[in-house]
Amino acid sequence: MDHDAIAVVDFGGQYAHLIATKVRRLNVLAEIREPEDPIERFHGFKGVILSGSPSLASKDEDSDYTRAIYDLDVPILGMCFGHQEIAKHYGGQVIHGGREWGPADLHLARAHPLFEGLGPVERVWMSHFDSVVSLGPDFEELGWTTLGEAEAPHRFAAIGSDRFRRYGFQFHAEVDDTVNGDRMLANFVFGLCGCRPSWTMERYLAEKVAHIRAQVGDRSVFLLASGGVDSTVAARVIAEALGPDRLHLLHVDNGLMRKDESRKVLAMLESLGLGRNLHFVDAGEEFLAALRGVVEPERKRRVIGDTFIAVFEREAARLGVPDHLLGQGTIYPDTIETGGTRRADVIKTHHNRVPIIERMIAQGRVVEPLVDLYKVEVRELGARLGVPDDVLWRHPFPGPGLGVRLLCSTGVADTEGLDRMAPQVAEVAARHGLQASPMPFRSVGVKADLRSYEHPVVLSGAADWERLIEVAGLILREVPGVNRCAWNLGSGHPTAFRPLAAGVTRERLDLLREADAVVMEGLRRHGVYREVWQCPTVLVPIEVDGRGRELVIVRPIRSERAMTASPARLPHTLLDHLRRVLPALPGVSGVFLDLTSKPPGTIEWE
Ligand code: XMP
Repeated sequence: MDHDAIAVVDFGGQYAHLIATKVRRLNVLAEIREPEDPIERFHGFKGVILSGSPSLASKDEDSDYTRAIYDLDVPILGMCFGHQEIAKHYGGQVIHGGREWGPADLHLARAHPLFEGLGPVERVWMSHFDSVVSLGPDFEELGWTTLGEAEAPHRFAAIGSDRFRRYGFQFHAEVDDTVNGDRMLANFVFGLCGCRPSWTMERYLAEKVAHIRAQVGDRSVFLLASGGVDSTVAARVIAEALGPDRLHLLHVDNGLMRKDESRKVLAMLESLGLGRNLHFVDAGEEFLAALRGVVEPERKRRVIGDTFIAVFEREAARLGVPDHLLGQGTIYPDTIETGGTRRADVIKTHHNRVPIIERMIAQGRVVEPLVDLYKVEVRELGARLGVPDDVLWRHPFPGPGLGVRLLCSTGVADTEGLDRMAPQVAEVAARHGLQASPMPFRSVGVKADLRSYEHPVVLSGAADWERLIEVAGLILREVPGVNRCAWNLGSGHPTAFRPLAAGVTRERLDLLREADAVVMEGLRRHGVYREVWQCPTVLVPIEVDGRGRELVIVRPIRSERAMTASPARLPHTLLDHLRRVLPALPGVSGVFLDLTSKPPGTIEWE
């Protein structure tokens, strides 16, 4: 290993990636390991951090991990679940109880290198059901917590054994609410593990450039450039290594792009000095032809994927770049089964890791300059290489593009179960002075880690954000068969819905492009583009109360890595703008704002 590094064991939830990101921000490499990884995968690290988990240590859940980590002669720090596991392993006791949630005051028992530079009382952040209630031999209590005067102290909030070099925090040092959490992590990483801070973007770039030169030799690299952050930064790194002559870029317009997207992407790539071998193919007609008559969402996705491969192979052969390697903008989270895949059973094969690509990787024929980086690091590297801010901060855009945002229909109303749902959703909404009805079509969602295909509900009435989101949550929880809830931005409560037969057509795509451009421009103009993580605009072919033929649904969300999402609150001035401009587009039958979290809704509607 070229860098001093820390292994972070991912016991689930969002914590492990947050820990790894925080350690990397200290300029120390951190890599994620699965709890069941063979012990060899832990060799070479200067320390190990065990993450938190949704599992209960008191019930021995998830206790089947590689316990040989405790034989490693390096310091180990556990947080929350990891803390409890360390206590248990060394003879302490963990019970179900002693729950703390939110802020707490950590009182330090004595000066210790883990808390170097910190005060006697530190504000920390708690989220646990289980607690350590006794310690094994050689362990000591390094701190306890209180919240307010009246409360009895929660013991063993920080524990440690200097003999074994094992430590535990009941709190989450990785979250910003633990005010000096970064300092605690730094004390562990530098003070106890003795890491040197070598993980800098400058050094990373120099190493990657050398590596790419050695790997590629005098051959060329062929890379698909979508215009997204990852492929653009990857292209810049490869050009840095090989010069612009030996990098061939192909941009495919599949006809499912945003308004003016391809033109802007080509101009942007040119401006970055990547225009020398920049190839473009307009395959819009081919995709439209392949999609003709396709209504079912999964089939649509497959058709788009298959067409893409066909176009790519044909163009690659036509361009005839001799003896080339394939460049990809794969980033670190794309390569690991975590954050809701292996541990949460939602398996989604990433397109950068399909079998044919895996074979090429084994043969050394794939160049992936960003494969060790998190998104924030990709942005930092991109900024260093002159990639403009608006590219670096662009919202993620799915491969099948607007194709998954243009719902299609045979025109037959899907009313199964609607009679049962209607009074139930209306009753929940009425409790809060609102109106609600289920709609006669379906969209994709995810429930209990499985794909669902269920009915959306429309909610109407005036209320503040908190109330609207609360009512949407209640409907989603209480009424079976519903997986989305959207708020009507128009006046009154819509009652008559008539689905219309519609497929993927140029006219519909053009309308969606216009609506999407209005929304994107609105987010930028009202200063919320960055705060909103992604904002699909969706068209549903349905007449509402005898008006128009296309319902527009806007879905602003906040998210970290797309595994979960919550509805984003938009400024009222922006909502007013959308209320005014979107219904004026031709054929629009209504405008709704999706208030569904993920789960139970997915980010995309199909
Ligand atoms: P869902 O809809 O599953 O989306 O909550 C999670 C994230 O993935 C994006 N997405 C895709 N990206 N190909 C992609 O490259 C796809 O087929 C695809 N489907 C969804 C989606 O936009 C969101 O960011």
